[in-house]
Amino acid sequence: LILTQDELKKIAAYKAVESVQSGMVLGLGTGSTAKHAVDRIAELLHQGKLKNITGIPTSKKTHQQAVSLGIPLSDLDSHPVVDLAIDGADEVDSNLNLVKGRGGSLLREKMIESACKKFIVIVDESKLVAHVGASGAMPVEVVPFCWKFTQNRLQSLFDYAGCVAKLRLSNGGVKMTASDAILRLAGVVEHGMFLDMATTVIVAGELGITIKNK
Ligand code: A5P
Repeated sequence: LILTQDELKKIAAYKAVESVQSGMVLGLGTGSTAKHAVDRIAELLHQGKLKNITGIPTSKKTHQQAVSLGIPLSDLDSHPVVDLAIDGADEVDSNLNLVKGRGGSLLREKMIESACKKFIVIVDESKLVAHVGASGAMPVEVVPFCWKFTQNRLQSLFDYAGCVAKLRLSNGGVKMTASDAILRLAGVVEHGMFLDMATTVIVAGELGITIKNK
């Protein structure tokens, strides 16, 4: 039996939704994996197996999906404490650190997932990496004003951070420096490193489901 990547995403998503209880305020993630979780939550609501769920969508796209499925929605202004968020990721390492945002959503995800009591990340095994941010694109959200200027500043920073990143591979703590340095650049809104945020990662692979807790 060979499962497709999408089937693995669905398996991880359905497993995460087992943690959803009636009455919860839920952060609804963005992307092709989180989409399955939102579908499943709506299904359980319509079956009457879940009741009184309040969804906080992490993107306009998820907002549209949830509205079309009839999931009651709210926002952080009205619900500043989120019981549980379920979302995908682009990279996950063994310390449950993440790279997110390659799908476009980033700032809303980080705001909502910083405000939740539990954050379950759902991935297929292709997302597992030894060190987040060591390869592939690192999303950085910047303000539109003079974005080329900020791009050049970031370029200089990454030249320097290239050295730091090399150090980081032998010293897990240094990566926070790169994260903080990016955020200190005027013009930067947010970046895609989600460090020390996930409380649980559910990985679906050919050999089954693996659950890692912080
Ligand atoms: C959205 O911008 C991202 O943070 C997603 O969580 C990430 O891209 C994962 O998406 P997939 O589940 O589609 O891989």
